[in-house]
Amino acid sequence: MIYAAVLAGGIGSRMQNTDLPKQFLELGDKPILLHTVEKFLMNARVDRVYIGINPDWQTYCEDLVRKHLGDGERITVVPGGKDRNGTIINVIAAIEAERGLTDEDILLTHDAVRPFVTQRIIDDNIDAALACGACDTVVRASDTIVRSEDGETITEIPPRDPLYQGQTPQSFNLKLLKACFDEMTEQERAILTDACKICVLKGRPVKLVKGEVLNFKITTVGDYQLARAMLMMK
Ligand code: CTP
Repeated sequence: MIYAAVLAGGIGSRMQNTDLPKQFLELGDKPILLHTVEKFLMNARVDRVYIGINPDWQTYCEDLVRKHLGDGERITVVPGGKDRNGTIINVIAAIEAERGLTDEDILLTHDAVRPFVTQRIIDDNIDAALACGACDTVVRASDTIVRSEDGETITEIPPRDPLYQGQTPQSFNLKLLKACFDEMTEQERAILTDACKICVLKGRPVKLVKGEVLNFKITTVGDYQLARAMLMMK
């Protein structure tokens, strides 16, 4: 089976001017979250979409799914965790409880606030996860990356060529991802915020999938304004 986990367990604190978590802000005719969920439902290879939602907003989210997506036949809403990986772990537990896990299952994990993910990116993620066990969606770093340890002066300017910026989806063989999570210590869990990094640290190869600049994450008010402008230009 091919599952998508739409990660919507956050509160969007960097969005500042709203009490509503950013994944619920309107973009055109529906909330950001629904645009993202639709992209995965649109892909016939995806069997089921799990939404990991902040528990305080679960009923709100279920109402939205009913309103915009009817019976929500291929959707399950589950409570998110205290951090992003916690939300992924909860989705895996829900899949295991509902359907059991097989060696071939694939999980695409995607930020709810990246509504412009394309079908090409989703397909490439499925292919890479099936072939390699794990993959990360990335774009080449277009700006020079500057490293500073103290936020005051430059420590290092690494060569730009091998540098990429990580996006999502990040996709995995489900059992492999679960094994990586299970192997983590409490200390590792506290510092490892990126699911692909966990695989890298456990010595698993993670394939690169080409992302798109427009598959950006809505983090700030400026990103939200850009997303609304993009929709108006369509
Ligand atoms: N996320 C999640 N579970 C959490 C925290 C975050 O599923 N406990 C999700 C967010 O909902 C978002 C994605 O991870 O879709 C990327 O995280 P980020 O942009 O940092 O979202 P927030 O944590 O909501 O934002 P902020 O850091 O500004 O509070």
